[in-house]
Amino acid sequence: MTIDKRTLRDVLGTFVTGVTVMTTVDESGRAHGCTANSFSSVSLEPPLVLWSQALKARSYAAFSSCRRFVVNILSEDQRGLSQRFASDMADKFEGVACFSGIDGLPVIRGVAAYLECRRTAAYPGGDHSIFIGEVENLQRGVHRPLAFAGGRYMLAFPHEVGSSDASSDDSLTEALRLGNAALADISSRIKASTGLSVWGNHGPTTVRYEHPAGRVWDGLEPGRVLSLAHSATGLVFLAYLPRAATRAMLDEELEAGLASGRAESSTESVERKLAEVRERGLARLFVHRAVQGQDIEIAGFSAPVFDRSGRLVLGLTAIAPASSIKVGWSDPMPSALITEAAELSRRLGYLMPPCG
Ligand SMILES: Cc1cc2nc3c(=O)[nH]c(=O)nc-3n(C[C@H](O)[C@H](O)[C@H](O)COP(=O)(O)O)c2cc1C
Repeated sequence: MTIDKRTLRDVLGTFVTGVTVMTTVDESGRAHGCTANSFSSVSLEPPLVLWSQALKARSYAAFSSCRRFVVNILSEDQRGLSQRFASDMADKFEGVACFSGIDGLPVIRGVAAYLECRRTAAYPGGDHSIFIGEVENLQRGVHRPLAFAGGRYMLAFPHEVGSSDASSDDSLTEALRLGNAALADISSRIKASTGLSVWGNHGPTTVRYEHPAGRVWDGLEPGRVLSLAHSATGLVFLAYLPRAATRAMLDEELEAGLASGRAESSTESVERKLAEVRERGLARLFVHRAVQGQDIEIAGFSAPVFDRSGRLVLGLTAIAPASSIKVGWSDPMPSALITEAAELSRRLGYLMPPCG
């Protein structure tokens, strides 16, 4: 089987790593540095680590002949240093805060951790060389490490706090954790501004909002309490929460709407919409907004996310100008939104009822 380079990169990119900057000095005393995520631990006794470097790297001559190198494990706020030491800048160390380690090798300040190593072996590895180092000194800092996967920098924080018991009853916390981690990817997949909402003590409330590169549409800002009957998110909560939880708020909203002459505030009109939401598993609503003096029609779609017991925990809502997308029920964006919400529900342990 011939391995396609692109596929190999894609597959290897699913393995999440930290990011290091390897530093050393050559015989003339000149400092060299190279960003590397090929770093790995090898042995505890003796303490050995490895990394691999491309033969064509400009600093290869320095690392392949050095006696020592330093592994600087970058912290989450050091993306700039990663880029800098991956570049072909003439002086990568200019303005970088370092102190002098064993043999005068540069150790970068503010890293998550560093290991000072004596190079004990080098092995050929295709278009790379694999360097093994024995750890002579090491220090853990206070910062969280930077992570890297799929060609992108990532943040690394715990999956859960405390117990990792999957049967935990706190399904809203679990839903928010999963939803938060997934939202940026969902927004870029469905190509629309996307928000997560929960049922707060004042009704449906947006807690997180992501938008793909480009336009930011207001209406889903975190902290915003949404209308029950006049927002797609509100309709999803109305359709799937027990009526006892929503009745008082809905009555209040409809009374206020009727008082201000909104025909669509009648109970019958809302019930018709809710029947449609339950049938399609999706709410759709159009609103008009004044954006820079122009009247723009915004299409909002919202899909329910359920926990393992079938309780509605989140509304997954996407908005876009109606002129920029196809707004039919089965068009690509609404369909993709349903799929994404169903996937979140599945990950929360919800078993989808069989169709029909
Ligand atoms: C996140 C990241 C990880 C990298 N990992 C490695 C690596 O493990 N080995 C390597 O040889 N190059 C790696 N590179 C590329 C080098 O940092 C880059 O080629 C750099 O220009 C080498 O510096 P030099 O040419 O001055 O020696 C990585 C780059 C980035 C951004």
